[in-house]
Amino acid sequence: MLDVKDIRKDFPMYSLHNNEYEAKPLHYLDNAATSFKPSVVINKINEYYNNYSANTKRSDYSLAYKIDQEFEEARKIVASFINANIDEVAFTSGATMSLNEIAYSLLYELKEGDEIILSYNEHASNVLPWYNIAKMKRCKIVFAPSDKKGVITPNNLSKVITKITKVVSLASVTNVLGVRQPIKELVKITHNNNALFVCDGAQEAPHHKIDVKDTNVDFLALSSHKMVGPTGVGLLYVKKEVQNKIWPFIYGGEMNSRFDSSLSVSLKEFPFSFEAGTQNIAGILGFAEACKYLNNIGLEEIEKHEKSLKTYAIKQLKEMKNIILYNDFNDSGIITFNVKDIHAQDVATYLSSNNVFIRSGNHCAKLLPEVLNVNSTCRASLYLYNDYSDIDALVSSLKKSGDFLDVYF
Ligand SMILES: Cc1ncc(COP(=O)(O)O)c(C=O)c1O
Repeated sequence: MLDVKDIRKDFPMYSLHNNEYEAKPLHYLDNAATSFKPSVVINKINEYYNNYSANTKRSDYSLAYKIDQEFEEARKIVASFINANIDEVAFTSGATMSLNEIAYSLLYELKEGDEIILSYNEHASNVLPWYNIAKMKRCKIVFAPSDKKGVITPNNLSKVITKITKVVSLASVTNVLGVRQPIKELVKITHNNNALFVCDGAQEAPHHKIDVKDTNVDFLALSSHKMVGPTGVGLLYVKKEVQNKIWPFIYGGEMNSRFDSSLSVSLKEFPFSFEAGTQNIAGILGFAEACKYLNNIGLEEIEKHEKSLKTYAIKQLKEMKNIILYNDFNDSGIITFNVKDIHAQDVATYLSSNNVFIRSGNHCAKLLPEVLNVNSTCRASLYLYNDYSDIDALVSSLKKSGDFLDVYF
């Protein structure tokens, strides 16, 4: 187990809320939505605004040179976090933007009748950009079936992939059930059918080492704010070998090398062609700091820690007869449940009165109810700064909830 007492010292949210003056300690269990930020990340952001607040990539004075160096150093750190090369990663405003950029960048690759494979588990950010592209280009969306646990098995992908499939776009870890997909095998099948594989890594990156060389995905999207970094920053990975298939989606300064009045435009190479306009410089530096922070603690240690907490939680939740568990079988730090006959939002509101913060609803995965047969669920999601006391607070609040929620455990 990680030394959570020590780790919490890094996170100002804990010094503010979990101190001797606060009556109820904070039990934050909504990490799949976003994470707290350690001081090193916050300080890095402040350092940029306080010490070298100049724009990147355009100016020739020494201050600008300093920030250009910092910016490219950040790219190096973030690229190495997913084992990518530096010329394969562009900064974006988050996983949503990255996924939109991927979908729109393939506008000229896709043609009428082509198929795009998604799954029922996907977050809106990995569904709606594809719906839009499918409407524009008259492509067909096909859903890969999953097994009972929500896994897209290689066999199931093989059942739906065909010679007219152009793209398979799946989350490596899904955001409601926390299912880990067998990405490497799915990529192989995709490539055997001459299609491109897009990986939504938003829920995997904070907890598990992503290695784009090993999985061989063509595209990958992730968000900094779920992995102790700032909001408004994300990563778009595009494998070198497929960069000739993409076309920028956003146009403006610093992504072109020249244009003239005859409408001729020369674009810079990737990643610069995908970074039009002034970037979230402070956020990007903070993002790199977040990667360094996670590397120092170790993703393997973080994952192990979450698994222990989850096992501890599941054991107790299983003993409560009014709890319905949806994903006790998987090994991610996401616990999805309902209290029998009580709406998930009522449960979350009640837990909030005990400072236990979980998410309720459909979690932006609005297709999942079609296969899970339930409209909304409670989701408690773990991270490196959670400990047994958070699980105890969740379980004991649920046990005490009878009078308020009209249930008996
Ligand atoms: C699997 C998955 N993909 C994409 C996103 C979108 O991330 P963001 O809101 O940071 O753009 C989320 C956010 O919850 C997610 O869980």
